[in-house]
Amino acid sequence: MTDIQSLERDILGAIAAAADEPALEQIRVAALGKKGSISELLKSLGTMSADERKANGPLFNGLRDAVASAIAARKTALGDSALDARLAGETVDVTLPPRPENAGTIHPVSQVFDEITTILADLGFAIAEGPDVEYDDYNFTKLNIPPDHPARQMQDTFYLAEQTDGSRHILRTHTSPVQVRTMLKQKPPIRVVAPGRTYRVDSDATHSPMFHQFELLVIDTDIHLGHLKWTIEEFCKAFFEIENVELRARPSFFPFTEPSVEWDLRCDRSVPGKIVFGQGRDWLELGGSGMVNPRVLAMCGIDPDVYQGFAFGGGIDRLGMLKYGIPDIRSFFESDLRWLRHYGFAALDMPSLDGGLSR
Ligand code: PHE
Repeated sequence: MTDIQSLERDILGAIAAAADEPALEQIRVAALGKKGSISELLKSLGTMSADERKANGPLFNGLRDAVASAIAARKTALGDSALDARLAGETVDVTLPPRPENAGTIHPVSQVFDEITTILADLGFAIAEGPDVEYDDYNFTKLNIPPDHPARQMQDTFYLAEQTDGSRHILRTHTSPVQVRTMLKQKPPIRVVAPGRTYRVDSDATHSPMFHQFELLVIDTDIHLGHLKWTIEEFCKAFFEIENVELRARPSFFPFTEPSVEWDLRCDRSVPGKIVFGQGRDWLELGGSGMVNPRVLAMCGIDPDVYQGFAFGGGIDRLGMLKYGIPDIRSFFESDLRWLRHYGFAALDMPSLDGGLSR
């Protein structure tokens, strides 16, 4: 056996025996590295006579190619088995309960979302959704908010960059565009609740630039304000888990409802840090509402001579702050783990009307 043949046999043997990638790398450096055995052989070609070079060149190059491809093949095999070993070693039993110190909690906003939709689903409402990034047309124009309405001014609305056609999308300023989306794709009777994120340029202890609202929309041939009042009453009873509900209706104005009504709930806040419903001299603002403006119905493809209905929009964060005694709205969105552990809810405690909505 020539020297070349035995060198090749030794190196290939070592490659096959390499147990892991670092061992393989050592073999590669010893053979093909700058001062490796094969590299030295290749260098020696330079000092040989033309005939010797002609005889040895193909041998040395063949050796180098054989070793290089054996290393590459072994590397792939080692990588695969390393991954297999890792996968086998890292199996996770997803049925194990989390360690108590790692258990996450449900954010109060998610909890209130679930409570609201549970209550309204029980009243026969379906859930409707729309995107946070909205067309100006759906957020304003089809809601009968003309281009010069103050709600459109830059200080209230977050505008996105101009599109190629010059139009600009916005972050929806309320959940009311979901009314538009629902009416455009669904024929009456309509009965939906649309909870979601909303955005306004505003920030202090009671305002966050991102907040949450829920929208109610009911359209049929014979819907009137009495249905709205009953719905809000039933909602408050279930949400605050109280029997006595006294509502106050105040005349208001929204371009998309006519007439428009804002609702307050009687409560007692005379003891600091405490709120009692159904008694007292204080009024808690629940939200805006009204009979859907016939112009809005028409713009959304619904015949206002046949159909009518009510819409309501309320703040979710504020309901959560009141129900769960959370003083500052900004703390909702700071992702402070200590706050989340204190105010969060157990993950598997889904709110239900018979099991109890909250803890
Ligand atoms: N969209 C209104 C707001 O954000 C609330 C509202 C909803 C009023 C539906 C009337 C009807 O203030």
